[in-house]
Amino acid sequence: MSGKLVVVSNRIPTGAPSSGGLVVALHDALTRSGGVWVGAHPDQDAGDPESLTEIASGDYDRLAFHLSEDDYENYYLGFANSVLWPLCHGRVDLVEISRAYEAAYLGVNARVARLLAPRIGPDDMVWIHDYHFLPLAVELRRLGVTARIGFFLHIPFPPLSALSTLPTPGDFAAWLSAFDLVGLQTRRDTAACLEMFRADPRAEFMTDGTVKFHDRTVSVRSFPIGIDADSFAEAARAPDPEAELGVDTGADLVIGVDRLDYSKGLPNRFRAFGAFLDGRAGSDAPRASLLQIAPPTRERVAAYRAIRTELEEISGRLNGAHSELDWTPIRYIHRGVERSTLARLYRRARACLVTSLADGMNLVAKEYVAAQDPENPGVLILSRFAGAAEDMTEALLVNPYDIDEMAAAIETALTMPIEERRRRHAHSLRVVRDTHVTRWAQSVLGCLATCPPTLSLRA
Ligand code: G6P
Repeated sequence: MSGKLVVVSNRIPTGAPSSGGLVVALHDALTRSGGVWVGAHPDQDAGDPESLTEIASGDYDRLAFHLSEDDYENYYLGFANSVLWPLCHGRVDLVEISRAYEAAYLGVNARVARLLAPRIGPDDMVWIHDYHFLPLAVELRRLGVTARIGFFLHIPFPPLSALSTLPTPGDFAAWLSAFDLVGLQTRRDTAACLEMFRADPRAEFMTDGTVKFHDRTVSVRSFPIGIDADSFAEAARAPDPEAELGVDTGADLVIGVDRLDYSKGLPNRFRAFGAFLDGRAGSDAPRASLLQIAPPTRERVAAYRAIRTELEEISGRLNGAHSELDWTPIRYIHRGVERSTLARLYRRARACLVTSLADGMNLVAKEYVAAQDPENPGVLILSRFAGAAEDMTEALLVNPYDIDEMAAAIETALTMPIEERRRRHAHSLRVVRDTHVTRWAQSVLGCLATCPPTLSLRA
């Protein structure tokens, strides 16, 4: 790359890149190229919406745009998280169509483009992340930006039928066609994206697999995201956290870690754990406890408040029915846990439950596998609807709508012979290693650097 790397995501990294993931993966490319990361200012309403503010940082520039209270309501909580998020996660029933949401979403994207365009040179590479910025490339092209622009959608690509619920369904294809490369998590997502283009009379399929749309071409490919397995494994090997977290040593630990989001299938997970406990009632099998870590998220959206109430009801009911004086079967922590503690908890857990109803990839599944002792690994129970299930085929794959099947999977996991646990874990670990997050970033950027050049200057 002769120019610099420009990364755009709604959340801008703050502080040192200690937490792994995207921030670490892009650190070198940003530092080497004199690059910049652009995102929303963490303090809402903190500055002039018509300028970018530098955020104190170490090795590369971080520039923040400002969201007013109105933008936050209508762009972030509104169009991004009450239209696009449910749309992409199979919850069309939760989509709130609102002209104000749409106007704010387009307005914020147009403003970010205006602020950003003068800073992008023709040799730079721009990498835009996630559903908050679908129209950003259209806006940048309109302002004459000719640099290569790539996009990565971290969440599932919506099926064609769901797209029809958008106020102007054809926009999605037009927005995506302004990128040079559209990166998606899975082969299933790529198929859904190509289906959308296929159904659009403006799109034409080229022999090299790219899509021509008006006078531009776009490549669509899957790049399954991953983690840095070695650094996670190292954190997991540190001394056991039982004392500091008070994990019940007398019971087998089953763990779940999710943002408190309706897409994660938490109510059915709790119900399945209840059914598993029912199945063991009266037996002399060892006790098992579910530790659910569920930090809250987007709490001003009604659907998120509702899921919290529902879970508190279910866990209260199940604990009321099953607890003993010295044992609480479901522990539910409504806050985040530090990465190193989490890694050690994963290693201690005999099973991990990932029961998403829809999920772009799900990195908890990969973290759990990386954290295990390969000689005595725990078992990953994984929803078929998580992107991770496309390659992690030796996890115990479950249908998150089928409570009995999930209850049986918990029983299977906790009684699985060691040879089978090792065999399944070895396969999953290979998948996790093959999708290392730094290599993932390199392959997206490598592809963006070589994809067919833009056909015209303006979209
Ligand atoms: C998902 C999205 C990210 C988002 C994250 C946290 O992983 O793909 O873009 O940043 O959730 O959500 P939040 O709304 O808190 O940023």
